[in-house]
Amino acid sequence: MKYAKITGWGKCVPPAVLTNDDLATFMDTSDEWIASRTGIRERRVCHCNFSDMAIVAAKRALAAANLDASEIDLILLGSLTMDSLCPNTASIVQNAIGARNAAAIDINSACTGFLYGLHIGTNLIRTGAHQKVLVIGGEFISHYMNWARRDVAVLFGDACGAVVLEACNEPSGLLAAKIGCELDTGEAIQITNLGSAYSRLTDDFLYPDWNFEGQEVFKRAIKAMAFACDDVLQQTGLTIEDVNIMVPHQANRRILDALAKRLGIPEEKIMVNVHKYGNTSAGTIPVALTEALEEHRIKPGDHVLMATFGAGLTWGAGLVKWGERVTPLSISDAELPPCHQTALEILAPHIERYSARAKE
Ligand code: ACO
Repeated sequence: MKYAKITGWGKCVPPAVLTNDDLATFMDTSDEWIASRTGIRERRVCHCNFSDMAIVAAKRALAAANLDASEIDLILLGSLTMDSLCPNTASIVQNAIGARNAAAIDINSACTGFLYGLHIGTNLIRTGAHQKVLVIGGEFISHYMNWARRDVAVLFGDACGAVVLEACNEPSGLLAAKIGCELDTGEAIQITNLGSAYSRLTDDFLYPDWNFEGQEVFKRAIKAMAFACDDVLQQTGLTIEDVNIMVPHQANRRILDALAKRLGIPEEKIMVNVHKYGNTSAGTIPVALTEALEEHRIKPGDHVLMATFGAGLTWGAGLVKWGERVTPLSISDAELPPCHQTALEILAPHIERYSARAKE
């Protein structure tokens, strides 16, 4: 039996920090409201292309695995904020890192894009079709945000993470996954005016907006993630007590607390960084996983439980058995282009555009 061990990991968080107090300078909100409802204190704003973040995260993950990009035979890129649909953005990353032997596929399942990619990549390795797969997840969501909508804009941020999967014979990597999508909930989270639906051939095309049923998503997210976690535990014959650390999608601290309670897992076993980055959609799990390793919270042989949900509503969970190595083999010097603006300066044109639109 083949397995797909995680041998490399890396993150790229852009340097510009947008605090809750920064948001309160242009919308009717407060640090108190945002922190108490979501746990979020600040988030990052990207000053370059989404693919720049994906390239840096990919190079860092490859260095951690001590692999040359030419050894990768498949790149799976999970995101809904791609630089480009044609060519796809995975191929932009493939070109930039020099992965000349890799196929390149974009995956759009919103926040679940990384876990969907991990599931697909793992199973392609387990069938023998691929040997070394790079799975990337991230988002440049500030670019598509309606900065006049306080109920949505305060929740999200930009970031990207990546892992390298390599074929191995010992049980390691993603041992079980359960992914799915709810019926009749497609409009609970929706970025309108994006995509080629015929009805979108209007001037509004330039103004993506959000349909967002926060409370509905909140309830469904907990239910779906708990169901998926129970499923993967059952598949592996493990119990929640066997889980050493949980690395869940970071959307809202209250969702994480409710999920932990429902699963019966102690708070100290949950990796939380939503206070620093907000919801970075497909970026949350690979970034949180990388930080869990950086903080030495994952030990050799640990069972790592992942759970996620996103627009669609897509959802999933995965149970990873970590390998023997918890430190990178080498460190990449890849960096984003320098950033000379504050987050508010980067966002100023978007904020102006949406506030003018709101007044029309
Ligand atoms: N600042 C101040 N007040 C606000 C803000 C804000 N930023 N946003 C909303 N409010 C107000 C509302 O207008 C409302 O006022 P009203 O009572 O006078 O009408 C009040 O605060 C309460 O609003 P609720 O929506 O009831 O607040 P709730 O406690 O439900 O929290 C939240 C809202 C944080 C969105 C929560 O429902 C949530 O986290 N849901 C999950 C959403 C999520 O994380 N989705 C991620 C998936 S996205 C993806 O996959 C791409």
